[in-house]
Amino acid sequence: MAMRFSVLTLFPELVESIAQTSITGRALKNGHIELQTIQIRDFAINAYGQVDDALYGGGTGMLLRPEPVYAAWLQATGQTGQPEVVHHPEKVRTIFLSPKGRVLNQAMVEELTTCQHLILICGHYEGIDQRVLDVLVDEEVSIGDYVLTGGEIAAAVLIDAVSRLVPGVLPDQSAHELESHSLGRLEHPQYTRPSSWQGLKVPEVLLSGHQARIDRFQYLSSLKDTLVKRPDLFNQLQLSAGEYQELIEYTCQDPDPLL
Ligand code: ADE
Repeated sequence: MAMRFSVLTLFPELVESIAQTSITGRALKNGHIELQTIQIRDFAINAYGQVDDALYGGGTGMLLRPEPVYAAWLQATGQTGQPEVVHHPEKVRTIFLSPKGRVLNQAMVEELTTCQHLILICGHYEGIDQRVLDVLVDEEVSIGDYVLTGGEIAAAVLIDAVSRLVPGVLPDQSAHELESHSLGRLEHPQYTRPSSWQGLKVPEVLLSGHQARIDRFQYLSSLKDTLVKRPDLFNQLQLSAGEYQELIEYTCQDPDPLL
């Protein structure tokens, strides 16, 4: 079954233009994923297209009012009218993209693939009335500790990361299993032809044809990269004493100026 994304936004074209490009674009065409963008302004409270209002308690800026966001969410879930009780359908997860949220990582992305339908709510410039978030949102997600002008690019990032795990989206399904982060460590460095470029040689072992040695080399270079570039991830790896020893020997053989 296709993975479905609904994005509630004031700028649908921003999300669509990213999602319709490259691999996710092909996945949309092939029907592996589905994208519905819902323009929050279509549910404006008046003929002037008003969706926001001044802050209670004072302060500058405007806030999205709850009614248009709620009506857009009802449309995303296929509910009509204005039900008294909010019904959260099963296998549907509502996510608010916000710098206050839990920072997205690969484990969270993998967990999100268990849902059939993700509803992504984006704020832009202004925030959203807290009550509608309290009622609708299952999870608040950030894509990093910095502030964007809106949630649309964050929603596109999430759609991209989740989509590539949907069966059929990547040409080689096993490819992602060896990639950075999926095993809690970074992918090992990779090389292609020519075997010597500007005096720089591809590591000898990769040309040896000896698969067991190649596997070991790639594993150790992946560990070393993780140690150097992402010590936070390295500290979470559960290595055996033997593996530590091997890593030390490997790094001593091939010293890295950063170590
Ligand atoms: N909206 C604004 N900044 C954001 C961030 N870092 N992550 C997700 N949504 C956002």
